[in-house]
Amino acid sequence: MSKHWRSKTAPDGIVRLVLDRADASSNALTGEVLAQLDEELSALLAADRPLSGLIFESAKPSGFIVGADVHEFSRLGSAAEGAELAAQGQALFDRIEAIAVPTVACIDGYALGGGLELALACDYRIAAESYERTLGLPEIQLGIHPGFGGTVRSVRLLGAPKALDLMLTGRSLSPPEALAIGLLDRCVPRARMHEAAVQLIMQRPAPRRAPRYLDVFRLRPVRALLARSIRRRVARRFPAEHYPAPYALIDLWAQHGGQGPAAYRAEAVSIGQLLVTPTCRNLVRVFLLRERLRKLAPKSPDLEHVHVVGAGVMGGDIASWCALRGLTVSVQDQAEQYVQPALGRAEKLFARRLKAPGAAAAARQRLIVDIAGTQVGSADLLIEAIVERLDAKQALLRELEPRLKDDVIIATNTSSLALELIAEALERPERFVGLHFFNPVASLPLVEVVRGRQSAASTFDRALAFVVQIGKLPLPCRSAPGFLVNRILMPYLLEALLAHEDGHSFETIDDAATRFGMPVGPIELADRVGLDVALHVARILREVVDMDPPALLREMVAQGRLGLKAGRGFYLYQSGRPHKRRDYPKADTDLSDRLILPLLNQAVACYRDRVVEDLDLLDAGVVFGTGFAPFTGGPVNYARQRGIAEVVARLQQLALEFGPRFEPHPGWAVLNGET
Ligand code: NAI
Repeated sequence: MSKHWRSKTAPDGIVRLVLDRADASSNALTGEVLAQLDEELSALLAADRPLSGLIFESAKPSGFIVGADVHEFSRLGSAAEGAELAAQGQALFDRIEAIAVPTVACIDGYALGGGLELALACDYRIAAESYERTLGLPEIQLGIHPGFGGTVRSVRLLGAPKALDLMLTGRSLSPPEALAIGLLDRCVPRARMHEAAVQLIMQRPAPRRAPRYLDVFRLRPVRALLARSIRRRVARRFPAEHYPAPYALIDLWAQHGGQGPAAYRAEAVSIGQLLVTPTCRNLVRVFLLRERLRKLAPKSPDLEHVHVVGAGVMGGDIASWCALRGLTVSVQDQAEQYVQPALGRAEKLFARRLKAPGAAAAARQRLIVDIAGTQVGSADLLIEAIVERLDAKQALLRELEPRLKDDVIIATNTSSLALELIAEALERPERFVGLHFFNPVASLPLVEVVRGRQSAASTFDRALAFVVQIGKLPLPCRSAPGFLVNRILMPYLLEALLAHEDGHSFETIDDAATRFGMPVGPIELADRVGLDVALHVARILREVVDMDPPALLREMVAQGRLGLKAGRGFYLYQSGRPHKRRDYPKADTDLSDRLILPLLNQAVACYRDRVVEDLDLLDAGVVFGTGFAPFTGGPVNYARQRGIAEVVARLQQLALEFGPRFEPHPGWAVLNGET
């Protein structure tokens, strides 16, 4: 009797093999799950009852199969062990492919990584209709590539260009999108999945293959040409020294063309090597940190109606994001005209993200303009996002509080004001927390959930749950100037400007940071944040980071060169893109140390000030809040891997060269050995 699989045989000889992984809410492919599948197949094939078809299903409401269990990756001791594991998985999926009767994967919800690879080994794939993006081969995001035959079967099914795109971006597709590229055979309402599977088994249409014209990629020279151009494109986003997996994947295809037994063998060897790289281990760490943040919310969300006051850059986008995620949202501002730009942005967001028929219109209906604030009394959550002035925020909350529901959560999006001061305006300050979103709201995953001295634990927990409910990652923070993310970023941004004063060009400075692995350099980042916002935060944090805002920043703001939003800041912008010189001197590691180590030093200071409770939360906050080089696994992990003593010595050297602002924080001394 299998612990994880159940099989049901119908009188017509069609067997449903249902995965219901024991003691788990979702189906991940552990070694045990795969071994039991092997046994199930042996039993089925050996049985004397006639078998006419095999359907793979999941019993979990969360989806089909979410992929391999990443916890097992860390137990691998060597590349050979990893290759062996992949080879075993391949042998099992080969077995599925070789079954003489038709096989069908019935996918309802997530089919990712190894889960989709299993489906690829079946003759047919059916998914339940949905516009959620639930199908993909996201292994690249963990520093590996598919390893159960997916690099071969995806090419055979989709053709090289589409298969490589799917694997190299790691992006997920909705069932209609997957159907359109040929990944699925059918996309039907959930209730009709089984019927559609039986129909395929009866009719036995020829299994799908990539169109014939793509056979041109069987020719090695043609592959070599395409591989070269893909490598160039990938190099712009993933430097080879930090991210080996995309290059390994391209090499595999260039070498074997996704065909023949050698392609499978090479896939296993290659993933074995990748599994033991520091990049893979660190990206798995980042994956687990993300899971941890998602699980911080102790109870399931219970919010239905959010009232947002202030429909500017932040409030407007917070409101549309909440409406996108299914909440009813009322938006209040001083007058209708202030809300209009936000509604325009909301339209674009809904059109981009909500593809199901009628979904954008429904989101639009959920977003209600409420200038008089008549709806505030029915809100489960009030988010204040008006101007950054204590008196204005206090006056607003004083006016609204008597009209609020008893169990409401009251939140502020303040970047710089102390929660305790704002809370002085409230009769019941225990219902008050900070919800610090980042700009642009739609693309930045983190929200700092800030606990003031007066915040009740229950309110704080519900605020964490709300952030998870709207699909963001909550970072619990203590109320302290700049919370975590802005405080960490400030020394990095200011040091970039000081480096410019010392003669480095903006382009060289950004190059130093992106070579290190940051998604954008500090100069471009400051432009994106807005130089007025950066200057404001720099002034607030002057004491904490012990640095004055450089004159250049003040001058730019005085001249109205506010960055991207003004079309000009440190760079000039055209269609949202900075104009950068190409002939700048390339950066060296001295310059990247000069930029990155102050960030690390400040991270340690934040930890010592208990802005976050532990070092993993610190790494999570910095990676998801700033985009800090994910392949490092976070700043603390990076410092540990480089060596704490070495980082401290380097800071001391920099202090001698550039001044006491580089002095290592006393917190480094206790970091060693602490978790
Ligand atoms: P904004 O100036 O774009 O928008 C503020 C909006 O509030 C305006 O539409 C204004 O008409 C409205 N408003 C002002 N007083 C009001 C009142 N008494 N009643 C109703 N509406 C009122 O400001 P932004 O940038 O959206 O900032 C809002 C808050 O978010 C601030 O606390 C800011 O510190 C914080 N924040 C800003 C970030 C940014 O990048 N801009 C990032 C994170 C937080």
